[in-house]
Amino acid sequence: MLKSYFNAKKEKVLKQDIFLMRKKRGKEYLMCGIVGYAGSKSISNDVLIDGLKALEYRGYDSAGAAVLQQNGFLCVKTKGKVSRLEEKLRQKKIASSTLGIAHTRWATHGVPDEHNAHPHHQGKVTLVHNGIIENYHELKKELQKEGYVFASETDSEVACAYLDFLYRKTQDKLEAMAQAIRSFRGSFAFGILFDDDQEHIYAMRRNSPLIAAVGEEGNFIASDVPAILKYSRRYILMGQDEMAVISKDCIHMYDKDKQEITYEIKTADMDIMDIQKGGYEHFMLKEIHEEPKVVMDTIRAYLKDDIHSLQETLPDLSAYEEIHIVACGSAMYAGMIAKSLIESKARIRVDVEVASEYRYKDPIFSQHTLVLLISQSGETADTLAALQLAKEQGIDTFAIVNVVGSSIAREAKYVAYTLAGPEIAVATTKAYCTQVALLSMIAFHLTHIHGYVSIERIREILREIDQLEETLEGMMKDRQYVEAGKMISRYGNVFFIGRGLDYALSMEGSLKLKEISYIHSEAYAAGELKHGTISLIEKGTPVIALATDEQLYEKTISNIKEVKARGANVILICREDFQVDRDFYDYRISVPKVDVFLQTIVTVIPLQLLSYQIANLRGCEIDQPRNLAKSVTVE
Ligand code: F6R
Repeated sequence: MLKSYFNAKKEKVLKQDIFLMRKKRGKEYLMCGIVGYAGSKSISNDVLIDGLKALEYRGYDSAGAAVLQQNGFLCVKTKGKVSRLEEKLRQKKIASSTLGIAHTRWATHGVPDEHNAHPHHQGKVTLVHNGIIENYHELKKELQKEGYVFASETDSEVACAYLDFLYRKTQDKLEAMAQAIRSFRGSFAFGILFDDDQEHIYAMRRNSPLIAAVGEEGNFIASDVPAILKYSRRYILMGQDEMAVISKDCIHMYDKDKQEITYEIKTADMDIMDIQKGGYEHFMLKEIHEEPKVVMDTIRAYLKDDIHSLQETLPDLSAYEEIHIVACGSAMYAGMIAKSLIESKARIRVDVEVASEYRYKDPIFSQHTLVLLISQSGETADTLAALQLAKEQGIDTFAIVNVVGSSIAREAKYVAYTLAGPEIAVATTKAYCTQVALLSMIAFHLTHIHGYVSIERIREILREIDQLEETLEGMMKDRQYVEAGKMISRYGNVFFIGRGLDYALSMEGSLKLKEISYIHSEAYAAGELKHGTISLIEKGTPVIALATDEQLYEKTISNIKEVKARGANVILICREDFQVDRDFYDYRISVPKVDVFLQTIVTVIPLQLLSYQIANLRGCEIDQPRNLAKSVTVE
């Protein structure tokens, strides 16, 4: 029976192909994981839990499953880890059966809790969803008029109800799905169960990945190949707007007009970890390469077609006369960039402080102080304590956070999310980059509302933002840093120098290098070097000098001359249009000239790639450096 769908040609797929295929599918949400099983053996719970665990790399904050039991489908959901879901299935005595779907959710609409976790159930439909239904508000209003009541804040539950509504109307599952495809805007991959069909999983997708897979003991759906590798290597990539009907011994595929289509069965020839890393050797490298997309996602979430949109998407910041930026580590260094931009361009006083100091220093507030917290995880204990301190004093708090519904996001008066997606490598790269991008937009907005930027300049910046993704993609391919990296990897001490924004960025460059390569490294304001640290420069010492600021780069070049005269190995990272005498540096890494509001987003890329390369050459545990944790939830 299985052989009946082998009308398609088998094909070996290389690791790299998978990654390319993913990229080619365009805008994609590498969050949330879907697994489904329709089989001949009662092994649903193992398949679903194994599958979700294999998809954990995508990041998630809640999990759930719907499994066929004697009385129909039973849903179990939990906040937190897949292991907790596994435990709950056991506690609730949900027996393994022949049919089930499961999901890990990364919150986008509504906090991570059991209500918002998938599967959702409405009428006769149970489903899991990856993606975002952009027109869910309109659909929800329509459905509420029809009497539907919603238990969650999610777009996914609306999609579930809408599918039920269409199924009631048409009494035809495929027709209901086809109509839903026509009605839904945005991105989706769905695994669907109908109460009156205990043999099939239904699936459909647009812009979010979904595969169907062929096994000896049944068939599967999944967000990605690793989820089913334990059970099968043969899979089918579902195309755009395609639907699938999957039973234990058959997979049928349809286009959006319900025409049955043939498909190719591909054979995965890869190692699970490789695929999870999208073909990259480490998560850190993968995450650096995601930066062009996540930076643009973050900017576009706030800045629409014109600068006035920032007024609508950000809280009203017009009345604050001083800003305290409070954060830890790289997030604090992102704050240093914001300080430099906001003070010099919008002329508002900004103090930046590490949260562990701020929380105990009895900060001086005024009526017009805003406390701005920055955190990827939203759970960093010191940052959270600093936020609580400001709140207790009645001071307005504004959090920039990556994880939806995290403690810092929940407690702050205002919150703006970065859209970096889940970050797995302990050392932050893409989350930092999106923090800088969002903070730069805030600085741009403040500069505008305080009247310090001309219409012509605004137009020029908006034009540059339109091109930013391409600029960043270009940076990813650039290999200028490679020779410098080889040299630095042989030394035990490195110095970073810069002025203004370059100094702020050099602190992050230095942290990145030391935390993953274990090379001692320090960042100095270039003009400060001769007040002490220059005594450490000896023959060969690598000095990474950042010089991207038109007003300041000549000053930095003078400081470079000072270290060069003492034998330093100078790596100059400067704008491509600056003319610098070849005698003053040993290696040059040129970066594109962009507006000052965007310059650090561009310049950080060679710094991250350089650190990565050096750590790799030194054989370090790049994704999990010693002694470090991703989320520091203790003081
Ligand atoms: C460095 C790094 C840390 C974090 C810091 C704050 O690569 O990742 O310095 O930036 O621990 O963490 P969040 O942003 O989660 O508050």
